[in-house]
Amino acid sequence: MRHICEVIMAAGIVLAGSTGGAGEKGNAVKTFTLKNANKIVARIMTRGATLTELIVPDKNGKPANIVLGFDDLAGYASKDNQYFGCTVGRVANRIAGASFELDGKTYILAKNDGENHLHGGVKNSLDKVVWKAKPFNKENESGVIFTYTSPDGEEGYPGKLDVTVTYTLNDKNELKIDFEAKTDKATPVNLTNHSYFNLAGAGADTIYDHEVMINADKYTPSGKGLIPTGKIEPVKGTPVDFTKPALIGDRIDQLIKTVTIGYDHNFVLRSQDGSLALAAQVRHKPSGRILTVHTTEPAIQLYTGNFLNGQKGKDGKTYKPRSALCLETQHFPDAVHHPNFPSIILQPGKTYRHTCVYSFSTESEKESPKR
Ligand code: GLA
Repeated sequence: MRHICEVIMAAGIVLAGSTGGAGEKGNAVKTFTLKNANKIVARIMTRGATLTELIVPDKNGKPANIVLGFDDLAGYASKDNQYFGCTVGRVANRIAGASFELDGKTYILAKNDGENHLHGGVKNSLDKVVWKAKPFNKENESGVIFTYTSPDGEEGYPGKLDVTVTYTLNDKNELKIDFEAKTDKATPVNLTNHSYFNLAGAGADTIYDHEVMINADKYTPSGKGLIPTGKIEPVKGTPVDFTKPALIGDRIDQLIKTVTIGYDHNFVLRSQDGSLALAAQVRHKPSGRILTVHTTEPAIQLYTGNFLNGQKGKDGKTYKPRSALCLETQHFPDAVHHPNFPSIILQPGKTYRHTCVYSFSTESEKESPKR
């Protein structure tokens, strides 16, 4: 029996040699490093239970960091941070008008995206708080369990919410993210991970050469402010049809004059029964890297970094618009206002559970995704 992955607790998400910083609440921020037997390295920090770095070898064994991030905490705390790699919640995506009704009461949330509420709020949303962390090591995998208790009323949401996010890296090249939450009052919950991938290496110019397949026949079109219209429509015959693999660059410009500018769409996955099923696959021919996504969630948001603005990220790299893509497994956006969408209301005594698996292979391995 050997421990294949090692967990190193580093002294904060700062440049090597320095002693670490503090989170917004003054808690020290720690970073954990997970390594597997195939030279994959994942770094995750306690601020926002955030994936800060993911190093994956290409088809020739050459490693590169394939997720957007910053070198230091100041970068993560700045306005340049557009949810890079973080855990998003309590409710990912948009809530129209920044309010909702539940059990006869109206709850008012922060308007942080025009008139609407985005990604859980402004100050103590799950991406900004510092989580508790406990690393673990098993035979063929290692990981970190992050926990955070969001008090009743935090960011306007009802109920005390106990949240756990567990990252696990194994030797099958899977980075698994397990989300769990419990509440003491009925409350909406829709968590996701917001990693931005560029399989050529973070900082590469565009993701036009990324070939994407999404296991979805339908999507939820959006209108003004990127709020869903409430309709569920077929992807067939539209630029968002990824039932057969297609390059991002092929049709993205057809979306320039639409509300989304590029891809920023919620896809209704074929699997709706809560079992772990194939959601998407991204192939990058030049490097040979393949990213496969499995989830238990009913939907996935494809976002092509349309709002990236040339900010400076990790290792001096510049992040231009459309230079990365997010594949966010989740429930449908604005579900609190659409009774025809699967409910995101968590009741006391119940446990919210969500698994997202990002797995990596290379073209030369000729791996086919498990279904
Ligand atoms: C999400 C949304 C986008 C955008 C980004 C953050 O993925 O779908 O519209 O708000 O987050 O910049």
